[in-house]
Amino acid sequence: MEEIVLRMTREISMGLAKETHPRATIKCFTTYVQDLPSGRERGRYLALDLGGTNFRVLLVTLESESSVNIDGKTYSISKELMEGSGVKLFDFIAQCLSDFCKEHKLENANLPLGFTFSFPCKQQSIDNGTLVAWTKGFKADGVVNKNVVELLREAITRRGDLKVQIVAILNDTTGTLMSCAFHRQNCKIGMIVGTGSNACYVEKTSNVEMFPGYQNSSKPHMIINCEWGAFGDNGVLDFVRTRYDVEVDSHSINPKKQIFEKCISGMYMGELVRHILVELMDKDMIFKGVKSQTLQERGRFETRFITEIESDDPGKYRNAAMVMDNLGIRTSNEKDLMCLRYICETISTRSAKLAACGLVCLIRKMNVKDLSVGIDGSVYRFHPHYHRLLMQNMNLLLNGTVRYELVLSEDGSGRGAALIAAVCAKD
Ligand code: BGC
Repeated sequence: MEEIVLRMTREISMGLAKETHPRATIKCFTTYVQDLPSGRERGRYLALDLGGTNFRVLLVTLESESSVNIDGKTYSISKELMEGSGVKLFDFIAQCLSDFCKEHKLENANLPLGFTFSFPCKQQSIDNGTLVAWTKGFKADGVVNKNVVELLREAITRRGDLKVQIVAILNDTTGTLMSCAFHRQNCKIGMIVGTGSNACYVEKTSNVEMFPGYQNSSKPHMIINCEWGAFGDNGVLDFVRTRYDVEVDSHSINPKKQIFEKCISGMYMGELVRHILVELMDKDMIFKGVKSQTLQERGRFETRFITEIESDDPGKYRNAAMVMDNLGIRTSNEKDLMCLRYICETISTRSAKLAACGLVCLIRKMNVKDLSVGIDGSVYRFHPHYHRLLMQNMNLLLNGTVRYELVLSEDGSGRGAALIAAVCAKD
């Protein structure tokens, strides 16, 4: 783990420095967010949240520090939209936004809108972001290398039935940090362990060489969107990767990309477990004599099954048996179910260890001794032991030198987007 922290630290330093940035796997993108919320932001904002299979439109009302009202609607993004034409994807987003605004009689309200777009983006300003690469199963064409804010504006203009001001584009990690910082002034990191994984942190502006004004900015800090999912794309993680990782990667939509993310996040954890199970079944070492076609199919062992299996009390295998039953493997053999649980635990524990390495790397980089970390994402939120595993492994590395708190950051993508819109509107 120390070796991973070391390698990660190198990639982050390379990402921040102008000369080495092109070669760095952890790009450390400038977010153009330099102010954390004060807790005094108020008003009504729209937020769009695109980052996985669900797309959300939200109306966020910051009423007081203790009362933030969120009214939202979730739309699912079909595989066709994820993999089809970019114009169709953005037309769909604009249509959802328009429907939502009409339902809430907001189509002419010209509200400020924050666009949470959770993919690697190179930003030139707070309201301009160029998609560098799709991740998490998206591959809509005509979007990579384009300014996605412009694509959204064009789609809204094509409809011509809606007035909004797109004031900011942000990553979900940034939203998570902002949302946590609204209540805790010492929040310095935002992390996501969900479908994908990533983190952002508060860096000294003077270290952010990729930011044109880094030497003479009046503001001391800049939030950096690490995009740590791509760590390992140059082979530096091969010393801990297994043949299952190699398999999962080679069958993915983006082979050899997002290597760290593929060891950590929800999109891949279940698939890793499935590969291990299939190998053991082929060798007749588990579920002897049982054949299951379902388990041979890619993606059939979902990450939420890991959560379910590990939610059984120790020594109990009720959920485990149910999960396997649904996959066509009817068994009450405790030894097999024990092994199944053990396999799930190795994958979730490894994920938490790697995420802990990432957090410790950022904490040491900032050299802070007291902080909160805002965290969101389905794996962190729903896995019964993830929080504990993260802390256990961070403690191993930090050895009592830092006081930190890991906080579930509620709805960063919505509240965070509104807060950034609010902070931008102040300028
Ligand atoms: C994306 C990040 C995002 C993370 C968590 C990754 O695949 O590249 O931008 O923050 O997923 O949603």
